[in-house]
Amino acid sequence: MIGITSFGAYIPRLRLSRSSIVQGMGWFAPAIMAVAQGERSMCNWDEDSITMAVAAARDCLIGKDKATLDALYLASTTLPFADRQNAGIVAAAMNLSENIITADFTAAQKVATTALITALESIQSGNRKHILVAASDKRETKAAYFYEMWFGDGAASLTVGDEDVIAEYLGSYSISCDFVDHYRGSFNQYDYVWEERWTRDFGYGEIIPKAVNGLFDKLGITMDDVDKLVFPCFFKGDHKKIAKQLGATPEKLVDNMHEVCGETGAAHAFMMFIAALEAAQPGDRILLVGFGQGANALYFKVTDAIQQMAARSGVAGSLANKKTTDNYLKWLKFRDLLKTEMGIRAEAPTQTATTVLWRKNKMLLGLVGGKCRECGTPQYPKMDYCVNPACGALHSQDDYEFADAPAKVKSFTGDMLAISVDPPAIYGMVQFDDGGRMMADFTDCALEDVKVGLPVQMAFKKKAEDRERGFVNYFWKAVPAPGAIEAMNKVRFDGRVAIITGAGAGLGRVYALELAKRGAKIVVNDLGGARDGSGQGSSSPAEQVVKEIQALGGEAVPNFDNVATVEGGENIVKTAVEAFGTVDIVINNAGILRDKSFTKMTSENWRAVIDVHLNGAYNVTRPAFKIMKEKGYGRIVMTTSAAGVYGNFGQSNYSAAKLGLVGLMNTLKLEGKKYNIKCNTIAPIAASRLTEDILPPDLLEKMKPEFVAPMVTYLCSKECQPSGEIFNAGMGYYNRVAVMTGPGVQLADAELPTVEMVADNFDAINSLAGAKALGDANAALMDLMTPPAPPQTEKTPAAEGGSSLDIQAIFDNMASTFKPEAAAGVDVVFQFTISGSAGGDWSAVIKDGACTIEAGRHAKPVCTLKMADGDFATMMRGELPAMQAFTSGKLVIEGDIMKSQLLERLFQI
Ligand code: NAI
Repeated sequence: MIGITSFGAYIPRLRLSRSSIVQGMGWFAPAIMAVAQGERSMCNWDEDSITMAVAAARDCLIGKDKATLDALYLASTTLPFADRQNAGIVAAAMNLSENIITADFTAAQKVATTALITALESIQSGNRKHILVAASDKRETKAAYFYEMWFGDGAASLTVGDEDVIAEYLGSYSISCDFVDHYRGSFNQYDYVWEERWTRDFGYGEIIPKAVNGLFDKLGITMDDVDKLVFPCFFKGDHKKIAKQLGATPEKLVDNMHEVCGETGAAHAFMMFIAALEAAQPGDRILLVGFGQGANALYFKVTDAIQQMAARSGVAGSLANKKTTDNYLKWLKFRDLLKTEMGIRAEAPTQTATTVLWRKNKMLLGLVGGKCRECGTPQYPKMDYCVNPACGALHSQDDYEFADAPAKVKSFTGDMLAISVDPPAIYGMVQFDDGGRMMADFTDCALEDVKVGLPVQMAFKKKAEDRERGFVNYFWKAVPAPGAIEAMNKVRFDGRVAIITGAGAGLGRVYALELAKRGAKIVVNDLGGARDGSGQGSSSPAEQVVKEIQALGGEAVPNFDNVATVEGGENIVKTAVEAFGTVDIVINNAGILRDKSFTKMTSENWRAVIDVHLNGAYNVTRPAFKIMKEKGYGRIVMTTSAAGVYGNFGQSNYSAAKLGLVGLMNTLKLEGKKYNIKCNTIAPIAASRLTEDILPPDLLEKMKPEFVAPMVTYLCSKECQPSGEIFNAGMGYYNRVAVMTGPGVQLADAELPTVEMVADNFDAINSLAGAKALGDANAALMDLMTPPAPPQTEKTPAAEGGSSLDIQAIFDNMASTFKPEAAAGVDVVFQFTISGSAGGDWSAVIKDGACTIEAGRHAKPVCTLKMADGDFATMMRGELPAMQAFTSGKLVIEGDIMKSQLLERLFQI
């Protein structure tokens, strides 16, 4: 069986909304309104037929061994070179073997199908085994023309062979005639088009049916033997009319993709064919027709193998990976329809030395680097010495292809000075996941899309064009992996309103920008005072940040109130409500410093710092909290400091204020819980005017506030899980800080412990081994009331030998472990409900200093304890503290929970 063995497609990510063409030029050419539905695909400025063909061919070869290809055909009417084999550039970009045949098929819209028939017949003849046919077109038109509306840019690729056939080739029929509906002279840029009506009636309307009927006669089939009919025709009405005339029902006709992409020239027959294959079931029969100076009709039957194909972008994936623009001027610039001044730098010579190009062909066109045989380190470019300093081997590198290696952005910049058709030029370091890195241009993204860590793919693009000599220089660039930008920005704040205090500089500014970029509306509060809080204040820092947010397309209002006053706090919240209607997020960030060692600390400095940090958070959060409670949603972030959490010489005022904020958080987390208000605390470390003279300069470089912002942004998000937690954040490192409670020791029961006992047991009291964070003051009280059992010196009989699940024996023995001296005034009934094979019901009645254990259920238990038999036995052996059993869910307590605390006092467990 011979036929199609794989398919792939590439539609540029950019789409131009057709209404933008009408908006821009409708005054001049109102008739184009008739075909202004949807959007057309649009090459980026650095794409052409070759780059798109490479992308489609790479997509097609997913899961295939490219080493088995023995021919590559490229079909296009917009090849950049009239005399330099274009298919050869595609083969070089894909680093294909030299031992293949390459050919350009050009000068008619049907050439892709011509190349396909040629390839299939070559396989049929047995001369070749595996051939790749790529079709690609980027046709130019003048502005405000019907064809600007109809056309799209794109590429599609098929492989043919006699193994793993996904669509069996059953025959073809061709018509060749010099029907000139349009033409493009060798030295002309644009098509000259004859009257549409004539093209429709005598071109599409006569030639396509002639080819189809010719094929039907040749193969002895009819339209009943066709499940899908594929033929490009951008006249939507005639597309349907011809199908009907051929006897095809509307469901059989494959859509011409006008609304989603436009007609992609020589590639379009393949594009529609691939769309049909993507939706096909084994057994479907597809009729494919290519039109242009005649027509080719081909007939295929889909096989079971189509279900085993590896995942790829294809037509569906390409259509989904899109960025629609209504910037028609950008389109005009990209298509060279608008003359702009590019500046003196653009006049620098761009001549390519073909000697160098040949010498470095694999490296430049194929993105082939090296991998060290000795240590396995990949590197680009390949060099004499291994780049790994621990290896440094000489001439140890084998060819290593980077084109398909997954990578991430390591660093990047946006350069407004570099010449670019689409400024700023974005470039930076790309780190390959499996090793190796290179400096690369980034394309198909905006500066705000690029982030350190963004997954990227390498893509073959135009590097520069030497118009004087008619040469296009190609190289590889980094493109965000499909869906990666969206995945990196999935935490969104659309419709949310955030108040950020002290946001005119330092950390607050960066939080404001990040939240605004992700859709939040921001109140940028900043008093604009000096570092120690002195001075009259200034509106400029807050205003400046508002301008920055607006320049990014975000929404923000400034506020210049002082957080240190009650009125200031209320006014900040009022600003949010008046500008945006509500408050969802408060970041208490405003801060000053007045450092002095404790004996030199004046009450003025003490108070000023407490006022801004601690009282400031109270002043702003309280009015905001009321709104959050009413709406049932809120996120609050307090800002503490290492000085507060751990202490810092000379910062007694600051430390006290900063840990005071943690106390405030601890209570707000409880009061807000019912209303979905989460309150957390950040302990940042970042370069700002507060730290510029405290931290060493080389450290400041690595301490950008941007490294803190992700944690704060998370704590402000609806995705935020914790409430009442503290996080250190700085230099990209994040960890949790917590007040921990150690297990401690119970030194005495009824009698008073002595100082000596404390001294003797201090190490155990002081130990944090097995420490835990407690949720609130009640949990702390519970913890205090249920100290761990004193270490057991004697083992219980059950633990020694008898069955650990002899629950009856435990209850039989229980009365003898009762401690009457601890039961003074105690009147309680415990009900034990033990599940499991050894389980059952027992009650313990404690009254008047006596204990009665009975099997069965008590009528009025005060406290019921439910447990599995094994866990109960473990607990009663003293190996599982009751508190731990309770917190881990092994022990369920019903009724008067507090009474359960008595158990460990009343019985010798
Ligand atoms: P920064 O000085 O760059 O920013 C603080 C901002 O708060 C300033 O723009 C200031 O004008 C504003 N501000 C001061 N008093 C105000 C008031 N009464 N009302 C309104 N705005 C007022 O300092 P940075 O480093 O960005 O500090 C932000 C927060 O982070 C502060 O609470 C600080 O204590 C805390 N922090 C910072 C650390 C760091 O390493 N930068 C370390 C630990 C905590």
